[in-house]
Amino acid sequence: MSDHKDIPAATDDGYVHDFIKEHEFDGIQEFDNKLPNWWLWTLYGSIVFSLLYWIVFHTLEIGTLPRERHAAEMLAAQEAQLARAAASGLSNETFAMMAGMAPRVAEGRAIFVQYCVQCHLDDGRGSVGPNLTDRFWVHGCEPMAMYKVVSDGVAAKGMPAWLNQLGPSRVQAVVAYMLTIQGTDVPGKPAEGEPCTFDPAAP
Ligand code: HEC
Repeated sequence: MSDHKDIPAATDDGYVHDFIKEHEFDGIQEFDNKLPNWWLWTLYGSIVFSLLYWIVFHTLEIGTLPRERHAAEMLAAQEAQLARAAASGLSNETFAMMAGMAPRVAEGRAIFVQYCVQCHLDDGRGSVGPNLTDRFWVHGCEPMAMYKVVSDGVAAKGMPAWLNQLGPSRVQAVVAYMLTIQGTDVPGKPAEGEPCTFDPAAP
């Protein structure tokens, strides 16, 4: 290398000492030492590790990332909490919990797409049936009220009853999904019914 003199710093005592680089800034000079092997192997090791890590977790995706493990544990905890709450019966609160659980909401969306879109349209903006994304509800906006109207239907108005066909668990999932689109105000069928006054945060 051209920027240092190959002059040992001191040789009087018989030892080969550190080389000092030629340049100097504000009176500070630097040694030109070979890095210790433990340091170099830590560097090489971490490069190899990062490559393997990338391949296992991001290319082949055979490992579970910490944040995925965390999400799975959170979900298991939410399921357990929900099971405890549901033991004393369904409530607005149990539906609010379900609406926070991505797999339930996804299941509900799949059911909605299969059974409900012909009358409420894909994004819930309404056609034969009312717009489910606005803040106005004919039969009430509380989750328990939605559960009832989806379960029993409104025969006179052409809303089928779903409890027998779908079973309670799938009706609950579809209600959880509806809670996630409620209030998103997708422009569609004009508002029907009364404005929603239910506050999910209230006890
Ligand atoms: C055959 C058409 C049809 C299908 C299919 C249908 N609905 Fe309806 N739905 C209606 C009609 C019509 C109403 C309006 C009832 C009324 O005005 O009393 C309604 C009302 C509702 C309401 C109450 C809205 C409010 O403003 O209170 C909810 C909630 C609802 N439907 C959810 C669903 C879900 C969930 C599904 C699928 C599982 C579904 N509907 C499938 C026609 C349908």
